[in-house]
Amino acid sequence: MISPEDALPAPIYNYTVVRQFTLMTLLWGILGMSMGVFIAAQLVWPELNFGLPWLSFGRIRPIHTNLVIFAFGGGALFATSFYVVQRTSKARLISDSLASFVFWGWQAAMVAMVVSYPLGYTTSKEYAEMEWPIALWVTIVWVAYAYLFFGTIAARKIRHIYVGNWFYGAFIVVTAMVHVINHLALPVTALKSYPLYSGATDAMIQWWYGHSVVGFILSVGFLGMMYYFVPKQAGRPIYSYRLSIVHFWAIIALYIWAGPHHLHYTALPDWAQTLGMVMSVILLAPSWGGMINGMMTLSGAWHKLRSDPILRFLVVSLAFYGMSTFEGPMMAIKTVNSLSHYTDWTIGHVHAGALGWVAMISIGTLYHMIPRLWGRERMHSIGLINAHFWLATIGTVLYIAAMWVNGITQGLMWRAVNEDGTLTYSFVEALEASHFGYVVRLAGGAVFASGMLLMAWNCWRTIRTGAAEVHPAHLKEYAS
Ligand code: HEM
Ligand code: HEM
Repeated sequence: MISPEDALPAPIYNYTVVRQFTLMTLLWGILGMSMGVFIAAQLVWPELNFGLPWLSFGRIRPIHTNLVIFAFGGGALFATSFYVVQRTSKARLISDSLASFVFWGWQAAMVAMVVSYPLGYTTSKEYAEMEWPIALWVTIVWVAYAYLFFGTIAARKIRHIYVGNWFYGAFIVVTAMVHVINHLALPVTALKSYPLYSGATDAMIQWWYGHSVVGFILSVGFLGMMYYFVPKQAGRPIYSYRLSIVHFWAIIALYIWAGPHHLHYTALPDWAQTLGMVMSVILLAPSWGGMINGMMTLSGAWHKLRSDPILRFLVVSLAFYGMSTFEGPMMAIKTVNSLSHYTDWTIGHVHAGALGWVAMISIGTLYHMIPRLWGRERMHSIGLINAHFWLATIGTVLYIAAMWVNGITQGLMWRAVNEDGTLTYSFVEALEASHFGYVVRLAGGAVFASGMLLMAWNCWRTIRTGAAEVHPAHLKEYAS
C-alpha cells in the first residue's frame, strides 16, 4: 500500500539540521548518561566527590538531569520532529538559516548549562536550574523552533496533518508556556535572580512546570515519535487512527492538572493535592490507550520482532511506558505516596520512564533514521544493535529493580516505630541497608551506558566507513 506521503513527488528536505541534531543527541546521550554513572558511583563511594565543590553530587546531579532531558531527549525530539514534519507535510522546513540558528542556539544553551551548574550558578528549582540569561536564550530559540515547525505545517502540501505532528505541536506549545511562567524572576545580578513567586505558590508553579516536563516533553513529545516510527518500522499502518485522536485530546486535557502529586502532604491546600491525585489516576486510561495503540500496530507483524532489533527497541519501550504510567498513577495516591516519596522508589519510577521509555524509543528511532539520513542501505552491524538491545534491557531492569527494593526498604524503615513511639531505625541504618542496591544500580547504569558506546561505534561505521555508496532506495532521502 502506498502511503499518502509517498504518492507525491518528493521535494528535497532539509536533512542537514536533522543529521546535526541526530549526532548531538548521541553525543549528549553518552555524556549525560556518563554523568549518571558518575553520580551513581558517588552514592556508592562518597569519596568520589574528591572534596571539590564543583565535583560534588549536588552540582553534578543537575548536569545529569538537564543533559539527559534537554540535550539528549530534547535533541531526539528536535531531530525527529524536523524529520517527521517535513516528510508528512511534503514540505521543506520554511527557513534553512532559522533551522541552523535553532541547532546552534540549542547547543549553546546546553553548553552554558553544563558550565554554569558546577560553578554554582543555579536557581535550585529542579529541571529549571538555569539562571535567567540562559532561560531567556532558551525562550528565544524555542520561539524560532515553534515558528519553523508550525510554519512548515502551514506550508504543507498535504491537507491532512498527521497525528504525530499534533503530539509534537502540543509538546512545543506547552513547553513554551510552562518554561516562561516558571522562569519569571527578578534578576539581581548578571547570574542571580529571585523567583517572582514565593512559598507554596512558588512550589505549585514549579511542579506544574516539573510535571509538564514529564508530561509534555518526556511523554507527549515521545508519543509523537511513537506515532510515526512504530508504524514505519513495523511496515503497518497505525492500529487505530481514531483512538490516536481520542488519545491526543484526553492526554492533553489531563496532564496539565497532575502537578500537585509532587507536593502531597505539604503546605499546598488539601483540595489541590486531591485534584492532582484524581487527575493522575484518570491519566492511566489515555496513557494505556496510547500504549495499546502502539503495540497493536504490530498486529500481523509480531514475527518481525524475531529478526528486527530496532523494532524490538520500539516495542519494549512501549512496554516500559505502560509500566511507568501504571506505576505513576499508583504513586500519586496519597497513601502510597506517603511510603514512596523521598525514597529511591521515585528514582526507580523515573528511570523506568527515562531509560525504558524515553531512551529506548529514541535509540530505536535513531537506528531507523540514521541509514536513511546518510543514504545507507542499513546500519553497519545488526548484530551490534541486537547486543545493544540486550545491554539496554538488562541495564534498565537492574536499575529499576534495585531502586524498588531500596525504595520500599527505606519507606518501611523510616516509618517503623517502637512501642514507646521512638523511631526503630536511624537514618544511617536505612542508608546502610540501601548500599547493595546502589551497587546494583551502578552496575545497571554502566551496562546501559556501555550499550550507548556500541551504538556510537555502529553509527560511526555506518556513516563513515560502512556501505560507502548511497543506496538507491534512499537516494531521494539523501538529497540536501
Ligand atoms: C500516567 C503517568 C504518570 C503519572 C501519574 C506519574 C506520577 C508520578 C508521581 C506520583 C511521582 C512521585 C512524586 C513524588 O512523590 O514526589 C512521579 C515522579 C516522577 N515521574 Fe512520573 N508519572 C507518570 C509517568 C511518568 C513518565 C512516563 C515519566 C518519564 C520519564 C515520568 C517521570 C517522572 C519523574 C522525572 C519524576 C520525578 C520528579 C522529581 O521529583 O524530580 N513519569 N511521577
Ligand atoms: C546510564 C544511565 C543513567 C544512570 C546511571 C542514571 C543515574 C542517576 C542517578 C544516580 C540519579 C540521582 C538519584 C538520586 O538523587 O538518588 C539520577 C537522577 C535522575 N535521572 Fe538518571 N541516570 C541514567 C539515565 C537517565 C536518563 C536517560 C534520563 C532521562 C531521559 C534520566 C533522568 C533522570 C532524572 C529526571 C533524575 C532526577 C530524579 C528525581 O529527582 O526524582 N536518567 N539518575
